[in-house]
Amino acid sequence: MKKNKKLAVFASGNGSNFQAIVDAVYSGELDAELSLLVCDKPGAYAIERANNAGIPRFVFEAKAYASKEAFEKEMIAHLKSADVDFIVLAGYMRLIGSTLLNEYEGRIVNIHPSLLPAFPGKDAIGQALTAGVSETGVTVHFVDEGMDTGPIIAQKRVDIEENETLESLQAKIHAVEHRLYPAVLQKLLTQGEMTYGKKESVN
Ligand code: GRF
Repeated sequence: MKKNKKLAVFASGNGSNFQAIVDAVYSGELDAELSLLVCDKPGAYAIERANNAGIPRFVFEAKAYASKEAFEKEMIAHLKSADVDFIVLAGYMRLIGSTLLNEYEGRIVNIHPSLLPAFPGKDAIGQALTAGVSETGVTVHFVDEGMDTGPIIAQKRVDIEENETLESLQAKIHAVEHRLYPAVLQKLLTQGEMTYGKKESVN
């Protein structure tokens, strides 16, 4: 029997995408094992979600370490002891450093709330509203050393209506993210080979 891949999800806040992944594993939509939550904010709601789902977690504070290299080395120890194959960033608010990238090259993905390369970085939803564009969306991409710059795996559009508010647009984007991320992960993890850099659309 084929062995399911083991995932670590990295989150810094609410963790609604983490929850969508947990739910997809439980419903059988996503053939994977959730082996670890990594969180850099001790008060984050994502931690409670991990506790509720019985998922082990590694919670840390960057300021307790001398450098990014130092906390990424400790992360790697936790990832290895949990036998993690694949890292899923879901609202993790830090750039991944070379220590972790070298160890998990081509096996780290991120979700971003815009149609990259448009609106990278923080507050991508607010950036799109301020720019006055008529559509934005969601991107799942492989992670490299840049800020939201790695090869794109999948994208989905979201219309911006005339009377759109930040709250209404956030709600629409999150709803799309919660469907798209588990679906893309299922494809990536069950295709045997990772389709590094190959763009596909998931409807
Ligand atoms: C999402 O919009 C994701 O695209 C971005 O951060 C947000 C995280 O939300 N990277 P949540 O913590 O999953 O609710």
